[in-house]
Amino acid sequence: MTDAARLAKLSEVLGYPVEPELMKRRLERLLSRPDHVVLVAESQTDGVVGWIHAAEQDILEIGRSCEILGLVVAADQRGHGVGRRLMEWVERWAFERGLKQLSVRSNVARAESHPFYERLGYTRVKTQHAYWKHMR
Ligand SMILES: CC(C)(COP(=O)(O)OP(=O)(O)OC[C@H]1O[C@@H](n2cnc3c(N)ncnc32)[C@H](O)[C@@H]1OP(=O)(O)O)[C@@H](O)C(=O)NCCC(=O)NCCS
Repeated sequence: MTDAARLAKLSEVLGYPVEPELMKRRLERLLSRPDHVVLVAESQTDGVVGWIHAAEQDILEIGRSCEILGLVVAADQRGHGVGRRLMEWVERWAFERGLKQLSVRSNVARAESHPFYERLGYTRVKTQHAYWKHMR
């Protein structure tokens, strides 16, 4: 919880600006759920330099799997293995829950993430449109 403000800052880097207080409330909710995991990467000199959020999904046509819902490493910390280690810890968490399938959706605009996931053994299976609706 004490990392909430830094997580909010990094969320902005990811393209999702969020107020620290709101991030705190989201964290409070998610950290109490055993089917979600939020991990941070911390450097001795720079503090929190990345975070990852993943969750167990149970989809009628696919079954149980682990989906990576968010991942970001601070711009000046990339290329040093931080993203890889965050992914490895999530994979370990998934394995311990008996989840053998992992998935992640990445915006086509996130060019640096595509070779990253492929390097970690993920295969691109499709390209899709995303639809949102805001209810009043
Ligand atoms: C994608 C991201 C998380 C990668 O984090 P990172 O800490 O730089 O990645 P790592 O240093 O752990 O790299 C792991 C492997 O991927 C490779 N890789 C990482 N970025 C790469 C790139 N842009 N091009 C080619 N290979 C890349 C590395 O060479 C490394 O391979 P190796 O371990 O065999 O040497 C980071 O670039 C980021 O936060 N990007 C912005 C947000 C984003 O796109 N998030 C994903 C949302 S779906």
